[in-house]
Amino acid sequence: MPDKSILIAPSVLSADFTRLGDELQSIKSADLVHYDVMDGHFVPNLSFGTEILRQVRRATDLPLDVHLMVSNPEEQVPWYLDAGADIVTFHYEAQTHANRIVSQIHEAGAKACVALNPATPVALLDSIIEDLDMVLVMTVNPGFGGQSFIPSSLAKLRSLRKLCHEHGVSPDVEVDGGIGPDNVAEVAAAGANVFVAGSKVFKAEDRSAAIEALRTNATLGTAKRA
Ligand code: DX5
Ligand code: ZN
Repeated sequence: MPDKSILIAPSVLSADFTRLGDELQSIKSADLVHYDVMDGHFVPNLSFGTEILRQVRRATDLPLDVHLMVSNPEEQVPWYLDAGADIVTFHYEAQTHANRIVSQIHEAGAKACVALNPATPVALLDSIIEDLDMVLVMTVNPGFGGQSFIPSSLAKLRSLRKLCHEHGVSPDVEVDGGIGPDNVAEVAAAGANVFVAGSKVFKAEDRSAAIEALRTNATLGTAKRA
């Protein structure tokens, strides 16, 4: 199967919210804007909701990659579709009718993605993988920016590649948490092609250079894929 395009998705969770418009301008060379929604229940933190997403929609032309870390995705997915999400990710651990949510997302013309926490095995995607546009492999326990990458994620990415191969599908594979220029190559080599980076982009003085470093190293890693 051909390699999928490399996509860099800065997470605005690490941006300066008082200057969000400028912060979005500073990441124009990225491919997606990653928007983390935290409900204080599924994860031990709160972030932002639909109103700020509507403002982000007006402030950037980049596609919006909305990561819902919420306990009730059945209820909340339509809110974010309405607010302008291009990709909607919900957590496998939070839902009871995954196929229903995927259909809801597709009916609105958006892309559907399921996220797996570090302790959730990829085998659970067996009955749904053929319907997904993307799978998000969490490489930290969700809830906060700036955490360290969990090394066992590499084996998990390889298992996901195997599962996709068995089903003859090639969804995008996104990684989120602790991703930076130093580890993005090995993560790409293990099978990821969509790279979320919060602190490593927004804490850098030159955001374009940080995005470019991620892109260059991810390209090198992809070339080393077995
Ligand atoms: C974590 C969020 C991430 C976070 C990543 O729960 O889903 O998107 O912003 O931040 P870094 O890249 O700093 O680990
Ligand atoms: Zn995220």
